[in-house]
Amino acid sequence: MGGIEEHATGILRTSLEAERATPIETPWGKFALHLVEDEVVCVQAFCPHMEGPLFEGSCSGKRLVCPWHGWVYDLTTGKRVDLGGGSRARLEELSVIDHGPLGLSLQRPDPPKI
Ligand code: FES
Repeated sequence: MGGIEEHATGILRTSLEAERATPIETPWGKFALHLVEDEVVCVQAFCPHMEGPLFEGSCSGKRLVCPWHGWVYDLTTGKRVDLGGGSRARLEELSVIDHGPLGLSLQRPDPPKI
């Protein structure tokens, strides 16, 4: 197996803003940190539709709107929600571990076993 177990971002939770994503380079590509209802969520930075800059999208609570064509995602599930469940589009998510004064770390969940 091997690979990266945990990636330290050096970013403190207290530096995150509720209405604005914090883009971040990771060993797994570019992601973005979002503060959602007091929880830190890390999802892919570019839209699954046409790679629009999702990290520049507008955030309101758990809703994230892509600035290019307006697809809407639920940050707590990663699912596209503006089609009423009629879309299979889903954001890739990393697990976030809060190490307090040492900052936030990220982990990539294991892929589902087949
Ligand atoms: S690129 Fe995001 S909705 Fe089209």
